Amino acid sequence: MISRETIQQILNRIDIVDIVGEFVKLKKRGTNYLGLCPFHNEKTPSFTVSPVKEIYKCFGCGRSGNAISFLMEHEKYSYVETLRWLANKYNIEIEETETSPEQRLQQQVSDSLYIINQFAGNYFSDLLFTDDEGKMAGLEYLKERGFREETIKKFGLGYCLEQRDAFAKTALASQYNPDYLIKSGLVLKREEALVDNYRGRVIFPVHNQTGKIIGFGARIIKKNDRAPKYINTPENEIYQKSKILYGTYFARQAIDQNDECLLVEGYTDVVSLHQAGIENVVASGGTSLTQDQLRLIKKYTNRLIILYDGDAAGVKAALRGLDMAIEEGLDVKLVLIPDKEDPDSYVNKVGALAFRNFIRENKKDFILFQLEVSLKEAGEDSTHKAAVVNQLAETISKLNKAEDFTKQQDYIHRCAEILGIGEAGLHTLVNRHIRDKISKEESRKPSRIATIVQQQTEEKGQDNLEDETFQILFQDQLQERALVRVLLSFGPMNWSDGKTVADYIFEEEMDEEMFKNKKVPEILNLYRVQSMSGNYPGISDFAYSDDSEIVKLVIESTNHPYELSHRWYDEDRAHSINREIWKLNYENFRKKVMQSDNSAEEIYSRNSTEQYKEDVEAVLVYLKLKKIKRLMLLNEEDLKKPNSSSEEIKHFQEVHSHLKQMQIELTKKKGTVLYPF
Ligand code: CTP
Ligand code: MN
Repeated sequence: MISRETIQQILNRIDIVDIVGEFVKLKKRGTNYLGLCPFHNEKTPSFTVSPVKEIYKCFGCGRSGNAISFLMEHEKYSYVETLRWLANKYNIEIEETETSPEQRLQQQVSDSLYIINQFAGNYFSDLLFTDDEGKMAGLEYLKERGFREETIKKFGLGYCLEQRDAFAKTALASQYNPDYLIKSGLVLKREEALVDNYRGRVIFPVHNQTGKIIGFGARIIKKNDRAPKYINTPENEIYQKSKILYGTYFARQAIDQNDECLLVEGYTDVVSLHQAGIENVVASGGTSLTQDQLRLIKKYTNRLIILYDGDAAGVKAALRGLDMAIEEGLDVKLVLIPDKEDPDSYVNKVGALAFRNFIRENKKDFILFQLEVSLKEAGEDSTHKAAVVNQLAETISKLNKAEDFTKQQDYIHRCAEILGIGEAGLHTLVNRHIRDKISKEESRKPSRIATIVQQQTEEKGQDNLEDETFQILFQDQLQERALVRVLLSFGPMNWSDGKTVADYIFEEEMDEEMFKNKKVPEILNLYRVQSMSGNYPGISDFAYSDDSEIVKLVIESTNHPYELSHRWYDEDRAHSINREIWKLNYENFRKKVMQSDNSAEEIYSRNSTEQYKEDVEAVLVYLKLKKIKRLMLLNEEDLKKPNSSSEEIKHFQEVHSHLKQMQIELTKKKGTVLYPF
């Protein structure tokens, strides 16, 4: 653990212009700096860095954050990696806090394994180029397969001699610890002696994202052997198969640039495609994808293209990971390589250009592909067919994140067409799966609300559904940010009768469930706890949180109130009428920014202090409306109960009209004080 003092020292030294400037060419504009956004493609600069506020913000794509979140996002560093990078940049010595003996041991094992692997990597690759056997058996084999020397060197490929213990002897002579050598999988213990594990094989080192060797894959050269084709590093402190994708280190930049990741099965596929200039490739090692691997991909891109063999086994393997990938929010396409080839052999056969074209022309939508395959399997069997529809509905139901909503609608439309069934029916089925999933989750954490909303949404049909979704997508998000902004900006200020704004806000009952963004209640709680001691936290206390979601929320909330107008200007997401409104706001906003020399900061610091009470009131109105909405939903549910007495029904109806009245009054009030929305 890095000590608190070191972190503070690092934070004190941070100069956001200096840090962002290492990656983006910045020009001074008034008090700010302007450049081309590194997170999306643009020709006119809309990426702004404010040295005063110590934040950056892109008015094109909406990304924003501080120096730390910039490094985390741009370089894909973890929080700790970011701190280490900064410490290195500013020559700050890192002081580690006390670690437990177990942590120290674990750290020591990991460090030793890295060192041993590095040593072994060099040893094997030297043999490939300098040793007679290495050259004749290893290099010859690799060259015959079409790997060029520069490619072999880049990936650090090597060769392990046939001799029983050539590596073990060398390693022991260099004083490497036998226990760690065994743990690394490079050697095995045979009757009290150490013998090499990868004898007579070519070696593929496996690198982690920062380029350190964490393990090896060793491929047999001789044919007709009953030994396994590959021997891989066993699980140890630094090699955990379920978290590794071969090739990430060499592919990460290309994945970022192409905003697309190709997934293949094998080591040789990665190396061959890379050699052919297709560098955004990683390999799964032939097993189905794990959640950790999907998340690894998601760090770089949302778009995954799976390239698998066209045979039945390949297809099955590919489909296995589908639902999970969708749940992770990845956009998945599939390309099946024809004629019993794999990507390695196919690219060698047809060449890079034809290979690229093949991918472009044969990318299949994963969900539609699954449908196609299972329909073919089902044939005319109607029970089997029903099962297919049900499976499909379940898959589509996983596309249930707010941003996937339009996509979900689109799939329902297209699949209903393919199946020749009514769209409404498929819709209901999808919703049932959503509901099942929610109630499963609910049973763990009891709550009626989500289920009820879901049911009602379903009953209301398409048009209202869109309204509802619109509400969920925009209104809530905007309001939640307003709440954060008001609290962080005005919390300690006077409300009335000696009460602070924070006191006033916390008088309102709030529970976690009310909020779409679960970081909002987290911030509220942190704030409440800290302010109880009289120390009201400010924006900066949260803006440097090590939770990047909190950082993002705080920056987006406090920067300016029109946040959403451009963020949601996105063809796929916004729905048509509202899109026009966003567009209008966005264009106006952009114009203003471009005209003003002082850029966005001044324009959006309109929140002068005398206005704060209005803003606070507006937020409170929102919270109250939200609560009323919840009460109304619960009440409506009660009303629908079949066995209520007429007395009870009367009571429910009274409650309803009372709530309705409150809602109307609050909405009127909202009209006078709330956002220009
Ligand atoms: N694999 C493995 N152990 C095996 C076979 C395969 O770990 N006994 C993993 C390897 O990561 C391999 C991947 O599964 O790269 C795909 O297997 P395969 O297609 O058989 O190997 P290729 O990488 O294509 O190797 P080659 O082209 O040399 O046959
Ligand atoms: Mn192959």
